[in-house]
Amino acid sequence: MGMTYFKRYRMEFDLRDWHADTPSVPSGYELLSYNPGLIRDHALAKFNSFRQELDANVFPCLSRRDGCLHLMREISSRADFVPEATWLIRYRHSDPRSGAVQTLAVGTIQGLSTEGWGAIQNIGIDPAHRGKGLGSILMSMAATGFRSTGLERMHLEVTTENTGAVRLYERLGFKRAHVVYKAADVASVKA
Ligand SMILES: CC(C)(COP(=O)(O)OP(=O)(O)OC[C@H]1O[C@@H](n2cnc3c(N)ncnc32)[C@H](O)[C@@H]1OP(=O)(O)O)[C@@H](O)C(=O)NCCC(=O)NCCS
Repeated sequence: MGMTYFKRYRMEFDLRDWHADTPSVPSGYELLSYNPGLIRDHALAKFNSFRQELDANVFPCLSRRDGCLHLMREISSRADFVPEATWLIRYRHSDPRSGAVQTLAVGTIQGLSTEGWGAIQNIGIDPAHRGKGLGSILMSMAATGFRSTGLERMHLEVTTENTGAVRLYERLGFKRAHVVYKAADVASVKA
């Protein structure tokens, strides 16, 4: 397919009137603040959330486990990394056969601080756990985290074809600011 240009919206959110309020997660889920020991969990949640999605074409590293781990390490080692805006959701359940309790990383969001803006990196929820409010909870925690560091606004980029995500962001209060294009070599994406 070769080089393809993906149309994306930059969406912005004013944090000045943001009222921090810790949302409660549905039963069976736990919300974890960032610590370096959770990098592999973030990477796994990212991989499972994105590998079947359009954004795995836009950012080919999202289609690979090792690519997601590398990306998490890169994000978390940056000078502008914001751990306060970086959150993980895990799901605890009992294995029906053995009865053993298993913990699965199912959601992740990461934040950077660039030029006075909180910049949301990848927000992703494992497909089996979508539609339960977990994405909204991660966004709310990231907003609170950015605000706690003194940032007054945050932004993200979303591929325009990702209409469900755009609708969610608008419902949360993001405004479309402008269109940007991201070039990607789609032929390099592993099937
Ligand atoms: C976007 C995403 C994080 C939302 O997570 P979520 O936990 O389902 O979000 P919530 O339950 O809080 O809200 C559900 C909303 O998400 C949106 N959504 C987007 N894709 C969805 C999907 N595949 N399944 C369910 N909801 C989806 C819907 O608009 C829904 O809102 P609606 O009730 O108006 O239809 C999640 O769908 C996802 O990981 N998508 C793939 C990765 C991705 O595209 N990330 C965004 C990159 S900018």
